[in-house]
Amino acid sequence: MKIAIIGGGNMGSTYAKAFIQSSIIKKENLLIVEKHNDKLEALRTELGIAIEESIQESIADYDTIIVAVKPQDFRILAELLKLSLKPNQLVLSIMAGVTIDKISNLLSHSNVVRAMPNTPAQLGFGITAFTVAPGSDFSIISHVDTLLETTGKAIFMKDEAMLDAVTAISGSGPAYFYYFVKYMIEAGKQMGMEEAVATMLVKQTMLGSFQIINNSKLSLDEMIKMVASKGGTTEAALNSFESSSIGENIINALKSAEQRAKELSKGA
Ligand SMILES: NC(=O)c1ccc[n+]([C@@H]2O[C@H](COP(=O)([O-])OP(=O)(O)OC[C@H]3O[C@@H](n4cnc5c(N)ncnc54)[C@H](OP(=O)(O)O)[C@@H]3O)[C@@H](O)[C@H]2O)c1
Repeated sequence: MKIAIIGGGNMGSTYAKAFIQSSIIKKENLLIVEKHNDKLEALRTELGIAIEESIQESIADYDTIIVAVKPQDFRILAELLKLSLKPNQLVLSIMAGVTIDKISNLLSHSNVVRAMPNTPAQLGFGITAFTVAPGSDFSIISHVDTLLETTGKAIFMKDEAMLDAVTAISGSGPAYFYYFVKYMIEAGKQMGMEEAVATMLVKQTMLGSFQIINNSKLSLDEMIKMVASKGGTTEAALNSFESSSIGENIINALKSAEQRAKELSKGA
């Protein structure tokens, strides 16, 4: 297996590191193409793998090409990449909102997979949904699953349209949690706590609650009931959430993210 990653930014370098750490590939079989000079040098020093500044003919020797540039940079990249692509090479795109159809058309290439990761991939706790071009066989799904799982979990989606929902739920998801954490810490500060103390309380509460969700057989409503006794403090907060329709607002906010993902997919 030989993998070339085009774009050595946040996500591209995440994959390179994950592939090396998980030993699914030998260093000499991994290439990053990165045009940014500073990043290029840093990657060369840190990873000790081949880094090129632009696409060379040698890219034709790599069986999987991961496209990890920003969506707006893809059109220019495609002009060059399509000149070296061979039909059996697999193109795995992680660009948000760029459809398989668009990628196939710009590259004149049908062997395309599209994935939507999220930033916890950097620590091996990501979740990536992916979809393949119609007619792709199972070996491609299995190969991509193996690659993506080096950064956490991977889930195959038959329907490409679901990737807009994935973008809204797990792609953008980390930011929603940061937002909630931010305001829980702010509440602690307004109650007179030092920021460091409030931060520690909130972070450990998040971690502990995640462990309960992950290990309990109870439903989320039952878990909520276990914390909230009648007439108690939790119930006071939950009643406040209810009267401000927080639940409904969360659903609507995520639907806005999905709508925006759909618009970007159409325009990209
Ligand atoms: N970050 C996330 O949370 C996230 C989540 C899911 C999906 N994604 C997707 O992942 C992709 C990469 O995101 P990122 O955050 O890693 O972006 P990034 O940090 O900007 O990395 C992209 C890198 O590619 C370089 N580049 C652009 N065109 C190139 C070319 N023709 N040849 C070689 N290198 C080229 C850029 O250089 P310059 O800086 O000089 O342009 C930049 O260093 C995006 O399409 C994004 O939609 C990101």
